[in-house]
Amino acid sequence: MSRPAKSRVTARGSVRGTTPAAGVTGASAPLRVAVPKGRVLRSLVERFARAHVDPAVLLNDDRTLVRDTRDGRYRFSLLKPDDVPTHVEYGAADVGIAGRDVLAERGYDLYAPLDLGIGRCRMVVAALGSESLVPPRGRPIRVATKYPAIAERHFAKRGWPVEIVFLQGSVELGPLTGLTDVIVDLVETGTTLRDNGLVELDEVMQVSSVVVVNRSSLKLRRGAVQALLDALA
Ligand code: PRP
Repeated sequence: MSRPAKSRVTARGSVRGTTPAAGVTGASAPLRVAVPKGRVLRSLVERFARAHVDPAVLLNDDRTLVRDTRDGRYRFSLLKPDDVPTHVEYGAADVGIAGRDVLAERGYDLYAPLDLGIGRCRMVVAALGSESLVPPRGRPIRVATKYPAIAERHFAKRGWPVEIVFLQGSVELGPLTGLTDVIVDLVETGTTLRDNGLVELDEVMQVSSVVVVNRSSLKLRRGAVQALLDALA
């Protein structure tokens, strides 16, 4: 029997179905897991292996985006890290692995029960070779970032007016080319800041990867979701 999809109107005005698509909720269907491509994948593969979730298909060197484990228990979709929470919130995946940075930037209606402690890094404010930021006279501080909402909130807490300049990548270029006064960006090893003569001025937040779960899947696939959470814990 098919149920009407629950939906809600978000602050941004869109209507989101929160019930997973029909035909994928049976107890024997694979649990759909949204996995981020990129830096975190290697640590995640190790974590899955320790949890007896066969990660072999994640290591295949091809361009397929949906991959089932050999035992048929899990169906991975490989996504840009920023897109993982969207897929899970809309019910296109039951579970996903998402960074706290992405979750904090946009705000999603998701259950986030487990921090995996991988993908650890920090979000910081940095500038060229000065250890204290002197706000420029007569204009707001210009901030280059991939995280406009987080940056805006951070400077609002400090009571400093800012002009946010949204960039897609290589944010460190902002102060180097004179585009901005500072950056708000992720630091993992510190190499990128150092190599570009930038100095950390302030910490914005600590980042790590967490497991996020679709609210309907939590009820409809409770057994499989809980088994995965227990194995990963
Ligand atoms: C991230 C981040 C920094 C860099 C920090 O960029 O935005 O630029 O990593 O890492 P580090 O402290 O270990 O040097 P990414 O490599 O994802 O590329 P991007 O700049 O194109 O976004």
